[in-house]
Parts: sequence; C-alpha cells; structure tokens
Amino acid sequence: MKKLLFWLFFILLIALAFILGNMPKITDYYDQLTRTRIPKNVDLQPAAQKEATFVGSSKCKACHKEKYHDWHASMHAKMIQDIRKNTNVIVADFSKLPKDADFTLKDAVYTIGSKFKQRYMIPATINSKEDFRLGNYQWNTQTGKWQRFKPYKYWYKHAYPHDNKQFPTSTTCDGCHFTGFMSTGKRIEPAIACESCHGPGSNHAADPKSAIFRADMSDPIRTNEVCLQCHMRNRDKRLQASNVTQKSLWMQAVDYPQGFEPGKPLVAYKLPAPFTPGKESKEFWPNGAAKKNRTQGNEYVHDAMYRHGITCINCHDPHRLTNTAKKPEGNRTCMKCHSFGSLIGPHQPTLEAHTHHKADSKGSQCIECHMPKTGKHTGKSPLTVRSHRFAFTYPAQTEAYGMPPQTNACFSCHQDRTLKSLQKDLESWGMVSWEEMSDTPRMQK
Ligand code: HEC
Ligand code: HEC
Ligand code: HEC
Ligand code: HEC
Ligand code: HEC
Ligand code: HEC
Ligand code: HEC
Ligand code: HEC
Repeated sequence: MKKLLFWLFFILLIALAFILGNMPKITDYYDQLTRTRIPKNVDLQPAAQKEATFVGSSKCKACHKEKYHDWHASMHAKMIQDIRKNTNVIVADFSKLPKDADFTLKDAVYTIGSKFKQRYMIPATINSKEDFRLGNYQWNTQTGKWQRFKPYKYWYKHAYPHDNKQFPTSTTCDGCHFTGFMSTGKRIEPAIACESCHGPGSNHAADPKSAIFRADMSDPIRTNEVCLQCHMRNRDKRLQASNVTQKSLWMQAVDYPQGFEPGKPLVAYKLPAPFTPGKESKEFWPNGAAKKNRTQGNEYVHDAMYRHGITCINCHDPHRLTNTAKKPEGNRTCMKCHSFGSLIGPHQPTLEAHTHHKADSKGSQCIECHMPKTGKHTGKSPLTVRSHRFAFTYPAQTEAYGMPPQTNACFSCHQDRTLKSLQKDLESWGMVSWEEMSDTPRMQK
C-alpha cells in the first residue's frame, strides 16, 4: 500500500512538472498584463516628490552604484556632451566644414547626438534671453558627410524666423535632452539622467524612505509614459485650441511636454503628432509606420502588444538600454513571451514553419519581418529606422498604400522580385487571410 502511494505521488509530481514546463511562457507576465488599468488623467507622482527639486545623477551614485554604472555606459548619458571638457566627443571632420558655415568648432559648447548625426549648440542671445542656437551644418554619421541643417524647416515653420541665429534650442530641443529642463526650465544635467525617469530626487536622496517614482509599479500602459515623454513626436499642446495657430505662438512654440514630470499624467502635457489611418503625413506612412526617427511611441500605441500591456521596458532595459542596432538580442527578445504553437503565436509548430526560411537564415529573424526599416534619420540618410509597429505589413498593403517598396519587409531582402509576386508567395504559404487576398488595404487590428 505504502509503495503504491509512493508511486502515485511520484507520477503526480512528474505530471505536474510536465504541465508547468509546457505552460506558455507568457504566463510569467500575467501579473503585469492583468493589472488594474488606471485612467490616463490620474497623477501617479508620489506626494513626497511634489516639493522635491532636481539634484543630478552624481547624488544617486553613492547608494545606487550598479544602476549608475549601467546608465553611465548607455547612450542616454551621452546625448549632450560638453566640448570644453573633452574634444573627443566630436565625431565630425571639422577640417571639411563647408565655407558658408555660420559657426566654427570654437563657437560650439555642446554636441547633440553622435550615433546617427551630430548637431552643435552655440551660446546666443535670442528674444533678449541667454539661450543656444544650432549650427547651420550637421554631421551625418551614417554617410560621413556634412549636411545643411535648417531647423526652422522642421520645427514650427511659422513660429520662428527662418534664420538659425534666431532659432532657440530652449523651446524646441532642451526639454528632451537635458534633465530637469522639461519642468523647471533649468539645464540641471546635460543628459537623460536618473531624474528624467524617476522625477526630482532631493527628498529621496536626503531620506531614502521618502518615495521616488518607479514606472513599473502601476498599470503597464501608464509605464510607457516615462519613455513616451521623449520617444514620441508631438505638437505644442496649445495648438489644440481652435483660436491658436503657429503664428500666434511666435517665438514660443514648444516641442516637448513642458511641465511634465515622471508619474504625472502625460495626456495633460502632450499632443501626439497627428495621424489618420490611410493618409501619409510628415512623420508617418499611410499604414502608421514611421518615416522618421523618434517615433517609437507614436507607432507602438497602435500595436496590439501595447494594448495588452507589453511595455518598452519588456524589450529594453531602461538603464543599460539593451536591444539596439549595434547590440541586437536577436529572436530571444521575442521568445521571452512567444513560443511556437502557443496561444499568442506564432501559431505554427516551428520557426521554419512560421517564417518559411531556413532557421539560420536572416529571413528567420523576427524583427526582419515584424520591424522592417521604414524611416530615416535625415532626408539624406539611408533607410535604417526600424518600425515599432509590430504587425506584419503585406506586400499588397505596401502597394495599395503607395508606400516605397523598400519599406516592405519581403521586398527589402528580395529587391529583384515584385511586391505582387512576393504577395503570391505568402498566399501559397497560406499566411494571408481572405481580406488580404483582395487588394484593399486593411488597417491592423
Ligand atoms: C542615501 C542613499 C540613497 C541615495 C542618495 C539615493 N537612494 Fe534611491 N534608494 C535608496 C534605498 C535604501 C532604497 C530602497 C531600496 C529597496 O527598498 O530595495 C532606494 C530605492 C530607490 C528606488 C526604488 C524605489 C521603489 O519604490 O522601489 C529608486 C527608483 C531610487 N532609489 C532612485 C534614486 C535616485 C534617482 C536617486 C538620486 C536622485 C537616489 N535614488 C538616491 C538609497 C538612496
Ligand atoms: C530611461 C529611464 C530611466 C533612467 C534614465 C534611469 N532609470 Fe532607474 N528605473 C527606470 C525604470 C522604468 C525602472 C523600473 C524597471 C526596472 O527596474 O528595470 C527603474 C528602476 C530603478 C530602481 C529600482 C530597481 C530595483 O530593482 O529595485 C533603482 C534603484 C533605479 N531605477 C535607480 C536609478 C538611478 C540611480 C539612475 C541614474 C543613474 C536611474 N535609475 C536612471 C527607468 C530609468
Ligand atoms: C528625457 C528624454 C528621454 C527619455 C525620458 C527616454 N529617452 Fe531614450 N533616448 C533619448 C535620446 C535623446 C536618445 C538618443 C541618445 C543618443 O543618441 O545620444 C535616446 C536613446 C534611446 C535608445 C537607443 C540607445 C542606443 O544605444 O542607441 C533606446 C533603446 C532608448 N532611448 C529607450 C528608452 C526607453 C525604453 C525609455 C523609457 C524607459 C527612454 N528611452 C526614455 C531620450 C529619452
Ligand atoms: C520630444 C522630445 C525631443 C525633442 C523636442 C527633440 N529631440 Fe532630439 N531626440 C529625441 C529622442 C527620443 C531621440 C532618440 C530616438 C530616435 O532618434 O529615434 C533624439 C535624437 C536626436 C539626435 C540623434 C542622436 C544620435 O546619437 O544620432 C539629434 C542630433 C537630435 N535628437 C537633435 C535634436 C535637436 C537639434 C532638437 C531641437 C531642434 C531636438 N533633437 C528636439 C527627443 C527629442
Ligand atoms: C517587443 C519588443 C520591443 C518593444 C515593446 C519596444 N521595442 Fe524598441 N526596439 C526593439 C528592437 C528589437 C529594436 C531594434 C534593434 C535592432 O535594430 O536590431 C528596437 C529599437 C529601438 C530604438 C532604436 C535603437 C537604435 O539602435 O537606434 C529605440 C530608441 C527604441 N527601440 C525605443 C523604444 C521605446 C521608447 C519603446 C516603447 C514606446 C520601445 N522601443 C518598445 C524592441 C522593442
Ligand atoms: C513581454 C512579452 C512579449 C514580448 C517580449 C514580445 N511579445 Fe509579441 N505579443 C505579446 C502578447 C501578450 C501579444 C498579444 C497576443 C494576442 O493578442 O493574442 C503579442 C502579440 C504579438 C503580435 C501579434 C499582434 C500584433 O501586434 O500585430 C506580433 C506580430 C508580435 N507579438 C511580435 C513580437 C515580436 C516580433 C517580438 C520581439 C521583437 C515580440 N512580439 C515580443 C507578448 C510579447
Ligand atoms: C519571413 C517573415 C517573418 C518572420 C521572420 C517572422 N514572422 Fe511572424 N508573421 C509573419 C506573417 C506573414 C504573419 C501573419 C500575419 C497576420 O496574421 O496578419 C506573422 C504573424 C505573427 C504573429 C501573429 C500570430 C500568428 O501566429 O499569426 C506573431 C505573434 C508572430 N508572427 C511572431 C513572430 C516571432 C516571435 C518571430 C521570430 C521568432 C516571427 N514572427 C518571425 C511573418 C514573419
Ligand atoms: C532579412 C532578409 C529576408 C527577409 C525579410 C525575407 N527574406 Fe526571403 N529569403 C532570404 C534569404 C537570405 C533567402 C535564401 C534562403 C534561406 O535563407 O532560406 C530567402 C529565400 C526566400 C525564398 C526561397 C526562394 C529563393 O528566392 O531562394 C522565398 C520564396 C522567399 N525568401 C520569400 C520571402 C517572402 C515572401 C518574404 C516576406 C514574408 C521574405 N522572403 C522575407 C532573406 C529574406
């Protein structure tokens, strides 16, 4: 009898292990996905932070060495760099700076960016205020060339004079590139530092028991806001009113959610760049995919994963900034949650059955089909900005929307083929629903 019980127990244990081992991986995320949704207009900033001030990342370093170290090695720490402290931050070849440049290396105080392009901040008095202007040439890192830069063409054409020397960075750039500027108008730290995501930290640094905002503690949809304050194209919120025009905001149009601090309701500060499904605009293709950089948020809010509660930080560690073009994590990024033959897809039993490419082919990399390169960093840059609209765009949709074929995943690797014949491949693989077999474009679920 005892022996029988022992064996019964043993078999039960094995069965349990088998069931648990085969649970879809997404079950690990049920807590995150099923959290109570908090309305978008609720202020989540801890009361203890309301009176706090910005103190800079050096104050956090003493107690959070590891986080500081991770962050310091990331690009967020290198966005704005002081040329006076270290000339190695220049990635451009100043010996080739065109003759009609309105600045020299000596005039520039800060560099902006480095990876795709570098622009230069020059002290200037604008509107009788101490401010910065931008040089009329930028360095394109991807092409290795100087390129003309006229910011007034892209930032509120009717609100600023068409002259770089009269175009201030305080209203058009600094809120997203300097910590603290967004809500205080002061350049506390030249970087996207701790307090850009955790809010002002004076009270917490003085007394660690004093609460400080942490974006993953609430509704996952709201978690994204800490990234969307910067990684989402927008318009000056005041333009929402029918009697306000760019002209009426002369010298004052602001291109960041002025006044926002992490935890506060972003909707109260941000007006996202407009997009109408089916219509091409300055920033978006008719299917909602990005034509430009810095559009991750605009695209992602249309995605099914966003609606289900998957967040930016499920794929990008917020301190180390994992998963970049330079250091991709491959299919692992997606297979943390997805598995073959699972409820959330891919529904086919194996990688090859889903992609119809060999397992070790580039054509079996998730992002090659679900995050095609649809955008550019400047008009003269190559097509390298990957879309954060994860739903697959069919060749027939690319054609029906009148988008350049290069933005289509299949065509980008098979440029000797036509969109029509690539669509036929998918049909022969049975990966097209009835709707997509007609030529009518369909907005994604
Ligand atoms: C004097 C030491 C000290 C300083 C300075 C300090 N912290 Fe902390 N911090 C702590 C301690 C202790 C905790 C609690 C750790 C725990 O509960 O696991 C903490 C927790 C946190 C948390 C997590 C909060 C939560 O709800 O889980 C964040 C975020 C944070 N600190 C950010 C910062 C930032 C940003 C700064 C700089 C402005 C800073 N800290 C400065 C000691 C410090
Ligand atoms: C780009 C936004 C961002 C920046 C910059 C940032 N953090 Fe965070 N931090 C987050 C988010 C989001 C979380 C919660 C998710 C997580 O822990 O990964 C977090 C979590 C933390 C925690 C709690 C971690 C734990 O495991 O308990 C601490 C402590 C912290 N951050 C400190 C810092 C410090 C110190 C800096 C600056 C050196 C910093 N953070 C910079 C976004 C950021
Ligand atoms: C205050 C503005 C701001 C906030 C908040 C912010 N970012 Fe960024 N982020 C930037 C800027 C600016 C860059 C470009 C840095 C550069 O190229 O020097 C950047 C770069 C990145 C990169 C590319 C890193 C690389 O190595 O090229 C990733 C990934 C990223 N951010 C993710 C996030 C995530 C996730 C969050 C939210 C947790 C977030 N960011 C919050 C402004 C911001
Ligand atoms: C709403 C926030 C926001 C505003 C306003 C903003 N930026 Fe950025 N900027 C970002 C983010 C986020 C990134 C990185 C993400 C990306 O490029 O996709 C970035 C990237 C850049 C880069 C490329 C960085 C690199 O390493 O290649 C440059 C250069 C740059 N911005 C310059 C400017 C200038 C100049 C202005 C003002 C005329 C400005 N930005 C206004 C958020 C902003
Ligand atoms: C489902 C996973 C996933 C989610 C969610 C996600 N990303 Fe990404 N992101 C990626 C991958 C993968 C790449 C591309 C890396 C590559 O090019 O190989 C990327 C690229 C980026 C880059 C450009 C990095 C570079 O090298 O220039 C930025 C910036 C970025 N993401 C920000 C965000 C922000 C902000 C959010 C939330 C609005 C977000 N991402 C949500 C997976 C994700
Ligand atoms: C943290 C978990 C998680 C990660 C990481 C993740 N996903 Fe998802 N994904 C989900 C969930 C949940 C859904 C919603 C499933 C449903 O609607 O049935 C989903 C849905 C999708 C869909 C179908 C709906 C849509 O958006 O069109 C695609 C395609 C997709 N994911 C691709 C990816 C790719 C590519 C990656 C990696 C870059 C990735 N996912 C990473 C959890 C995740
Ligand atoms: C060769 C292109 C290609 C590659 C590579 C690819 N997919 Fe897909 N994926 C598709 C197509 C086509 C669909 C069907 C789209 C639809 O149903 O609207 C799809 C659909 C999906 C869906 C929706 C659910 C389903 O089963 O239809 C998910 C989730 C998904 N893919 C995840 C992934 C993940 C994770 C990877 C990497 C392991 C990946 N895909 C690699 C082309 C690809
Ligand atoms: C990242 C690049 C890449 C993407 C995206 C891609 N392919 Fe491929 N494809 C390849 C490579 C490389 C091969 C060579 C054989 C292999 O690796 O499986 C191939 C092979 C094929 C073949 C076999 C016949 C041949 O030409 O060798 C077909 C058919 C095909 N792809 C169709 C498609 C379709 C349809 C899509 C979009 C759903 C697509 N591919 C997306 C790279 C890609």
